[in-house]
Amino acid sequence: MLSLYQSCMLSYTVFLLFVSVVKTTESAPNWNTLNETVGGRLHKAKPFSSPCFPDFDGISVPRNKAACKIIEDNYLNATYRSSQFGNFMNTQWESCMSTSAQCTLDSSDPSDSLAWTELPCDQGSIAPYYIDVQNYEDVQAALAFSRTTEVPCRSSTIGSLGLWTRNLDKISYNASFVPVGGSQPFPAMTIGAGVPWVDAYSFADANNVTIVGGYSETVGASGGWIMGGGHSVLSPTLGLGVDRVLEYKLVTPDGEYRTANAHTNSDLFWALRGGGGGTFGVVLESTSMVEPMAIPLQVASVSFNSTTETGLQFLRLLTNNSLQWAQEGWGGHLTSSGFISVTPLLTLEEAQASMQNAVDFVQTQNGTVVIETLPSWFAFFAKYTIPAQTAVGSADLAASRLIPYSLFETQEGRDSFIQLVTSLPGSFLEIDVVTPFLYNATENSTSVTPAWRNAVWHVLMGSEFVWNSTLAEKVAAFEFTNNCTAGLISIAPNSGAYMCLTTHFFLFQNEANVYEPNYEQSFWGGNYDRLLAIKHRYDPLGLLDCWKCVGWKGVDDSRSRCYPRVD
Ligand SMILES: *[C@@H]1O[C@H](CO)[C@@H](O)[C@H](O)[C@H]1NC(C)=O
Ligand SMILES: *[C@@H]1O[C@H](CO)[C@@H](O)[C@H](O)[C@H]1NC(C)=O
Ligand SMILES: *[C@@H]1O[C@H](CO)[C@@H](O)[C@H](O)[C@H]1NC(C)=O
Ligand SMILES: *[C@@H]1O[C@H](CO)[C@@H](O)[C@H](O)[C@H]1NC(C)=O
Ligand SMILES: *[C@@H]1O[C@H](CO)[C@@H](O)[C@H](O)[C@H]1NC(C)=O
Ligand SMILES: *[C@@H]1O[C@H](CO)[C@@H](O)[C@H](O)[C@H]1NC(C)=O
Ligand SMILES: *[C@@H]1O[C@H](CO)[C@@H](O)[C@H](O)[C@H]1NC(C)=O
Ligand SMILES: *[C@@H]1O[C@H](CO)[C@@H](O)[C@H](O)[C@H]1NC(C)=O
Ligand SMILES: *[C@@H]1O[C@H](CO)[C@@H](O)[C@H](O)[C@H]1NC(C)=O
Ligand SMILES: *[C@@H]1O[C@H](CO)[C@@H](O)[C@H](O)[C@H]1NC(C)=O
Ligand SMILES: *[C@@H]1O[C@H](CO)[C@@H](O)[C@H](O)[C@H]1NC(C)=O
Repeated sequence: MLSLYQSCMLSYTVFLLFVSVVKTTESAPNWNTLNETVGGRLHKAKPFSSPCFPDFDGISVPRNKAACKIIEDNYLNATYRSSQFGNFMNTQWESCMSTSAQCTLDSSDPSDSLAWTELPCDQGSIAPYYIDVQNYEDVQAALAFSRTTEVPCRSSTIGSLGLWTRNLDKISYNASFVPVGGSQPFPAMTIGAGVPWVDAYSFADANNVTIVGGYSETVGASGGWIMGGGHSVLSPTLGLGVDRVLEYKLVTPDGEYRTANAHTNSDLFWALRGGGGGTFGVVLESTSMVEPMAIPLQVASVSFNSTTETGLQFLRLLTNNSLQWAQEGWGGHLTSSGFISVTPLLTLEEAQASMQNAVDFVQTQNGTVVIETLPSWFAFFAKYTIPAQTAVGSADLAASRLIPYSLFETQEGRDSFIQLVTSLPGSFLEIDVVTPFLYNATENSTSVTPAWRNAVWHVLMGSEFVWNSTLAEKVAAFEFTNNCTAGLISIAPNSGAYMCLTTHFFLFQNEANVYEPNYEQSFWGGNYDRLLAIKHRYDPLGLLDCWKCVGWKGVDDSRSRCYPRVD
């Protein structure tokens, strides 16, 4: 039987033959009715780069050179990408990887005309329709539509209905916020699901408070970040995003608009604090505890031009120093050629002493060193992180592992990390020092894997593919990434991984291996069974299903068809 959401693909030439075999007319999704229900805010979405191509979904259309020029100029610009529906930080989520249906440019040179002369433009996995969500009633309408038509509410699934939350952009600060049903007040910020971190930081700064958030300015502050974990370079001392959240407002798949906090729907609150985005409901806003002052930070920024040999020496130095730096509250991003780290716990003199051996090493390499005090998170963010944003517009594949402190306690453990890196030439390496190492979390209050609590590093390795990679090349890139995961598991076998940040309602970045083996254990540890029970309670029909999310329907479900089979 032809499922209803396949029948909504009628307008797509590639599916025409298939659809014409089995005629279904009786229950086709009525987009016009949905559009009326949401006040005319239903829109059609085409791929971001389509104006560059002389065709779309098999039909020739004139190229729009002027529009294409703007796209080429902004292809790698995260702010530009996040201003429109249908864009992702990593372009594989715009494509259907298994069929190569896509509409992407060459990220190494967006003006490369081969990208649009050699390959056609296709809708790929971008939702062909989306709602510009303005309120919870829009979400209720979308979920009701999804229930009756089987069109999934997702932004990266063939034939889905996207929920564009970018315009839920309200931010407020309350010095004595009391969660519904509670009595204790907290200084807190309430942030709409469309607010990017850069806006939340600027607002916090204007109110002289500090909010803990991510490194990339376009990541949504109330999206997958605050449901899957939410790491920050301030997390070593101030905790993960899920440690600090006080309340979520969401529509659950049964259509109810709910408040979830420690006093109201506390089971759902626990599940949202680590169970993942796009799984338990559609969050419209979240409220998180803030620090009621601007916190001065010591910053250490060092970099040098490394060779394979000096890069490894530097990594040895980093593994040697990691436990001391963890005790001193340092958080940051480390590579084999430098780092940018911050701590709120030390004085400038203490920071200089703490960093002395790294500084000495980098100076012998004629590198650059800055150790300084900045008055606030926002001052740090503006000076250091905006120029060091994660690349967007490319298809990066990550393998993630939380590396426990025990690994760093022995020479053997430290050596095992160096051996792993040397055994995987060709992998990128990013060490995120973002675990809540010194944070006094309340036991069992969140549903992230408990491995976060003992970890010192979150390590990312992996591969990438390019605009014209063949299916075989993509599979090889995934296999290489799986080899990175296997290596990381071999050095930290009882730990876990950061989960897929599949918010699916906003620009997202994925820091997990999509082929993570035993993912329930890696992402949630002993919390999985309880998460699954809560999933069944609030989403008995499995309306919100996603790849390797809690309650996932599996590889054989048609929603998984764009993931290549990788063994
Ligand atoms: C929805 O309705 C609005 C207002 O009538 C219209 O401009 C828009 O094109 C419609 N959307 C779709 C997808 O038909
Ligand atoms: C990126 O795009 C934004 C939004 O359009 C724009 O304001 C900004 O100048 C662009 N940045 C660069 C480096 O082009
Ligand atoms: C702050 O929160 C308290 C308790 O929830 C509430 O009574 C008060 O109206 C809020 N203040 C603002 C400015 O929203
Ligand atoms: C923030 O602090 C500065 C300096 O102390 C002060 O001038 C300003 O009024 C404060 N802003 C708010 C919103 O409290
Ligand atoms: C690396 O080398 C390039 C070219 O010689 C130089 O411009 C740059 O400043 C060097 N970077 C560092 C961090 O030393
Ligand atoms: C790391 O520590 C070991 C053992 O103390 C020492 O032999 C080695 O020289 C150190 N390496 C670096 C790069 O600091
Ligand atoms: C650093 O610079 C000095 C002086 O220019 C030079 O002699 C030395 O070889 C350089 N070292 C490295 C590692 O580039
Ligand atoms: C955690 O609790 C311990 C013991 O109460 C305290 O000494 C320490 O400062 C706390 N850590 C943080 C980061 O608040
Ligand atoms: C946390 O959960 C574990 C496993 O269910 C349980 O053994 C432990 O008692 C719980 N701790 C608290 C403080 O509730
Ligand atoms: C992809 O394009 C590049 C040029 O950008 C070319 O060198 C390469 O051979 C192409 N790969 C495939 C699989 O066609
Ligand atoms: C992955 O590792 C296996 C076993 O070591 C090796 O045979 C294979 O070539 C590796 N695959 C890739 C793509 O690196």
